[in-house]
Formats: sequence, C-alpha cells, structure tokens
Amino acid sequence: MATREIITIPDEILKKTSDPIEKVGVNEKKLINDLFETMYDSKGIGLAAVQVGILKRILVIDVSNKDEKKQPIVLINPIIKNLSKEMSVYEEGCLSIPETYIEIERPKICEIEYIDEKGTKKNLKCDGLLSTCVQHEINHLDGKLIIDHLSKLKKDFIIKKVSKIKKNPDRIIV
Ligand code: NI
Repeated sequence: MATREIITIPDEILKKTSDPIEKVGVNEKKLINDLFETMYDSKGIGLAAVQVGILKRILVIDVSNKDEKKQPIVLINPIIKNLSKEMSVYEEGCLSIPETYIEIERPKICEIEYIDEKGTKKNLKCDGLLSTCVQHEINHLDGKLIIDHLSKLKKDFIIKKVSKIKKNPDRIIV
C-alpha cells in the first residue's frame, strides 16, 4: 500500500468522465488499497480514483466516527437507482479543493447499484451523511465538483484562491 498524490483544482483531469471497470484485477485492487490509505491519511471520508489521476469508476468511502470501528466501503461502477424527495444539507469540503467548504442540498436517501472488489453486484441504501458522501463521490466520476454548484464569479474566486495556496506549499501555521 502507498499513499498517492491528490490532484487539486484547476487540474483539467477533475472535469473528465471516468470509465467503467470491466474486471477487478490486480491493478484495481492495488488502486483500491492506495485510495483507502490516501483517504485515511488526508482525514477524508471519501475519495474517487480520478482524484489520484486515474479515470476509472472506483471510489472508496468511510463515514465512521474516529472513535468507531472503521467502515470501509468500495463502490465500483456505482449507479444511482433512487433519490428521495426529502433533502438534507451539509457543509461539504473536497480533498481536491483545499480550505473550501460549501453548503450543498442533496437528496437525503439514495439507493446505489454497484459491484464490490470481488466483482459481485450489490445494492446499498444510503441515508444522511453516507448519502451525501456517495453522491459527492459519484459526481467526481462524472467530472462534477462542489464548486459547480456555485455562480461563475464565486467559482473563479475559489479557483484563484486554491491556485495561490498551491504556489505557497511551505506555508505553515504554528
Ligand atoms: Ni471531493
């Protein structure tokens, strides 16, 4: 296992659509392990393969609390089957958009069809935080980011802000 570098905006790859997986092979399994390690290392609750530069429809999620047992979930080729009319709102961050949080309203419950790392077709009903997280990550597979929920003006402002952060990689707060 190894951590991989997380790609941040304005990298164009984040706007691309990821391709479905035909077979979960050795490379995919290694990628899944690396995605988990990278996600836990960055204190995120979800990570899509495109965020480490791989355009495959694979994502990993763990919404457990830090004092709880880990609940790792791997979703391959996930498809949203049902979305509730009832909505919930979370302030969402994204590992590809540092230091930025945006309030986003999404369906409170969703049902996902996907295959797991053994290639078995499965269904998952997601509620609350898990539902928001799954929808956020599936958006990544379709090249959509949380800043796409904003006006062009606000979006450009955030892209500029993040680009500045990247130019000062040695900046520390003590
Ligand atoms: Ni994200």
